[in-house]
Amino acid sequence: MRSSYGLEGRAAVVTGATRGIGRAVAGRLAAAGALVCVTGRNADDVRRTATELGGIGVAGSVADPDHLGEVTESVLSAYGRLDVVVNNAATNRPYGPLMDADPGAWREAFTVNVEAPLRLVQCAWRAWMREHRGAVVNICTEGATHVGPNVGAYNTSKAALLHLTRQLAGELAPRVRVNSVSPGLVRTEMARFVWERGEEELAAGLPLGRIGKPQDVARAVVWLVSDAAEWVTGADLLVDGGTRVRTAYSGGYAVHDRLRSSAPPPA
Ligand SMILES: NC(=O)c1ccc[n+]([C@@H]2O[C@H](COP(=O)([O-])OP(=O)(O)OC[C@H]3O[C@@H](n4cnc5c(N)ncnc54)[C@H](OP(=O)(O)O)[C@@H]3O)[C@@H](O)[C@H]2O)c1
Repeated sequence: MRSSYGLEGRAAVVTGATRGIGRAVAGRLAAAGALVCVTGRNADDVRRTATELGGIGVAGSVADPDHLGEVTESVLSAYGRLDVVVNNAATNRPYGPLMDADPGAWREAFTVNVEAPLRLVQCAWRAWMREHRGAVVNICTEGATHVGPNVGAYNTSKAALLHLTRQLAGELAPRVRVNSVSPGLVRTEMARFVWERGEEELAAGLPLGRIGKPQDVARAVVWLVSDAAEWVTGADLLVDGGTRVRTAYSGGYAVHDRLRSSAPPPA
């Protein structure tokens, strides 16, 4: 995989990479020979993950523009280049009907899920990618193109990220490729409130017979940032076990039942 993917010696930032999908992406990039920088708000987790991957880490929230500047400077100073950005960190709050949504929490969702990815790409573009080359992947969601119970803020912000992906793909070509990956339900902490009660029922409603694993998404991300995808930009790669084609497979959709009857734990 190393040589064919062309990632050896390239420098990559993965936001929110201390667990879940981001951790799997950073792990696969490191295994492909990339020099990785991981982020997250919990400093101990960031340190531990960076050590595990033989890379560097910068603790902070992507909502803080200074943090994104610090991430960029740290990568440039450690590796002398910044070839890959994976915008993975996100929030699924505020959860619930939009008529109850707190305006501050709504703004925070857009700051973390939309503004931060743009700011980090701006930093990478100015510091390295404009003069060299680069690849960006934004992690969206299968739900970004349709509606669902209680996830209005999350899906609206991810729909904006999907649009941002295409806009940037056009603006930054040919130097920088910008794509997105849209996962269906994946077995991570963020989605625990959906899958932890009765995972088998959820799996039975999916054409491919199981919910996702972080590695399912990571493989897609690594392919998109690699030279194997050198003629791909502005694409959204759906990695959802067949969620979007389920109506031709089965009637019910247990994920929406769960979104109606459960909620994430208090932040
Ligand atoms: N799991 C799913 O079913 C699913 C489905 C579709 C899309 N996605 C998308 O996949 C991506 C990863 O989600 P996940 O399920 O892997 O979540 P996760 O397991 O909860 O991991 C989230 C990671 O992001 C970090 N993080 C959270 N908020 C952050 C912030 N403001 N600044 C910096 N880091 C932050 C977390 O560390 P700290 O808490 O220490 O900051 C952690 O490392 C997200 O974009 C999510 O929207 C997930």
